[in-house]
Amino acid sequence: MQMTDIIARKRDGGELSREEIQFFIEGYTRGSIPDYQASALLMAIVWRGMTRRETLDLTLAMMHSGETLDLSSISGVKADKHSTGGVGDKTSLALLPMVAAQGVHMAKMSGRGLGHTGGTIDKLESFPGFSCALSDEAFLSQVQRVGFAIAGQTADLDPADKKLYALRDVTGTVSSIPLIVSSIMSKKLAAGADVIVLDVKCGDGAFMKTESDARTLAGEMVEIGKLAGRRTVACITGMDQPLGRAVGNALEVKEAMALLRGDFGGDLLELCLTLGSCILTESGAAASDGEARLKLERGIADGSALAKLAEFVAAQGGDARAVYDASLLPSAPVTVPVPSPADGYVSAIAAERSGLVSMHLGGGRATKDSEIDLSVGFVLNKKSGDAVKKGESLAIVHARDAESAARAARDLADCFSFSDARPELKPIIRDIIR
Ligand code: URA
Repeated sequence: MQMTDIIARKRDGGELSREEIQFFIEGYTRGSIPDYQASALLMAIVWRGMTRRETLDLTLAMMHSGETLDLSSISGVKADKHSTGGVGDKTSLALLPMVAAQGVHMAKMSGRGLGHTGGTIDKLESFPGFSCALSDEAFLSQVQRVGFAIAGQTADLDPADKKLYALRDVTGTVSSIPLIVSSIMSKKLAAGADVIVLDVKCGDGAFMKTESDARTLAGEMVEIGKLAGRRTVACITGMDQPLGRAVGNALEVKEAMALLRGDFGGDLLELCLTLGSCILTESGAAASDGEARLKLERGIADGSALAKLAEFVAAQGGDARAVYDASLLPSAPVTVPVPSPADGYVSAIAAERSGLVSMHLGGGRATKDSEIDLSVGFVLNKKSGDAVKKGESLAIVHARDAESAARAARDLADCFSFSDARPELKPIIRDIIR
């Protein structure tokens, strides 16, 4: 088989066979196919697309390019959740303990943040001593014992995606539905869960800017997950403004803890209850969404979800006292309010730009090797639709020094738009695709 023939077939709009796709993935992972040939094929896929059969074969070839996790030693149904990423997205920190408190095991691999979006691992490292570096054995035994574990993705899991994603990033070939579907779903399938719940975000702060693109991506991921034999559901959710109120690592952990104490609601709680209901019903732990929501709400009210978080933090080496005492988490030395320049209603908060404000404060990574400051970020006092008076505080910036605080306050104020009339707001949950 010749790579040049495979490239030419896709360039001319043809369909690749399973064998050709496997040849490409195996050869590229092993290093026998050079970057320039892989880049040419990726660009041909961007232009010509792939049939669902090709996308499934690509996903399965990538999934089998390295180690796959066998969760069969853990009793019961195992679930996983994936978010396509957004600003202030601390959902996993609250959702996993909520679900595990209801007896459904969650086995999750997570990543670090890059650019305007944060990563769950960075957020969790706000707990002093916490580590996501778990061996496979430690990961499996913790999921069984505690009910959930979050590990960093190991180098052996889906090596094809690691190489391909890095190449796509520098060759203008990220934005292709079959390439995104195969990238996300190959990792999820390799991680072994029976139930996969996907949070596909749409809007200014998301990877998919429009609801229609998010719907296409979600539909394809659900189909590929099902064809691969996993129960797969996708929620299409809004990312037109930061999720919840906190943006920044330790600040987001504090907000997730407040939610688990029953002290925080709004869009974040609605999202956690919706994703959690999908997981409980797909796992057979609840007969209906209504019953699932009730169980999840009860787990917050009786403290069992918060206790689950503490058990998880301790199991991964963190200081679990911080779950009940937020003063043990990193906190920034300087806080400044962001005064409103106008009277009226907040009509929009530019999500992507506000994520960059947190990144520039030191809370996110401009490049893969940047060091991050866990304490910095901001907390919104006003969200879209809220009434505001001129001079009232729109947000509080948390910074390491006065200069970066002042700059962030100016930049964050610019992210707000105002209107005289209360704006129509879209719900956080746009659709559920089963
Ligand atoms: N996230 C991934 O993991 N892969 C993509 O291709 C895009 C977003």
